[in-house]
Amino acid sequence: MDNKTVWETLENIKDLPTLPSVYLKVNKLLQDNKASIENVAHIIEVDPAMSSRILHLVNSAFYGLRAKSNSIAHAVMILGFNAVKNAVVSVAVLDTLSFKDKFQNFNITEFWRHSVSVAVLSKQLAEKSRLVPPDDAFMSGLLHDIGKTIMIKYFKEDFSKVWQRMQETKCSFSDAEADVAAIDHVQIGAYLTRKWQLPEHIIQAVAGHHYYISSSKSTGLIECIMLADALANSGYQIDPDLYVLEDHIEKVIRPLITNTESWLPQARTEIETAYEFFLEGK
Ligand SMILES: [Fe+2]
Ligand SMILES: [Fe+2]
Repeated sequence: MDNKTVWETLENIKDLPTLPSVYLKVNKLLQDNKASIENVAHIIEVDPAMSSRILHLVNSAFYGLRAKSNSIAHAVMILGFNAVKNAVVSVAVLDTLSFKDKFQNFNITEFWRHSVSVAVLSKQLAEKSRLVPPDDAFMSGLLHDIGKTIMIKYFKEDFSKVWQRMQETKCSFSDAEADVAAIDHVQIGAYLTRKWQLPEHIIQAVAGHHYYISSSKSTGLIECIMLADALANSGYQIDPDLYVLEDHIEKVIRPLITNTESWLPQARTEIETAYEFFLEGK
């Protein structure tokens, strides 16, 4: 399949996963500057299952609320519109996307465990470095590899070539993609998140998580995702010298990846909590 055919195929997929109407409605209110605590809470509360999942999420240890929130309105008041909107996306993605697609020994549950780990690690790096809002980092981390779920379902032939290449050469998934596939999970992830009308910085984080070069304009979001991904893939140990970061990011991130003892134990506990929340019963 050539690159043009890939894009045509993507455009023609009729059943691409969508985000729930709750997200679209909240997003529209925010874009039109018409959001209030009451109307955002009302939209979410119309879906009781979603509301209770969100309350469970924001009250869980890894969302970091000091006082328990017992209503969506209270959660919006404490966390802000953006964090609650991100919580809607995070809950919806795990509830909507498939846990059933299979390909040889590619394990979709393992895939989601990886995504949840990267979400928590990104959130911790964002929180500790104070570079970007932690909930943006959490959501971007959760979505960073989402393109793989589309690849496995709609681009089986490319996925199969990549998988075979990985087994043969023991290279990474993204290196195998670069060698043998017409498209990669990064481009598909960016396509999907754009279709979902997620904010541009989130789309860019998904799009840039393998091949990003820090610049003076970098906010640090993509760096948090890249480093979280590397930590998750390496048994939580990475060589800080492998990463060239701009000064304003280096100065707050390097101490964190050099001295992981100061935050990693807590992050690993949060990862376990997040597995329970997102993956239980899947
Ligand atoms: Fe990736
Ligand atoms: Fe990853």
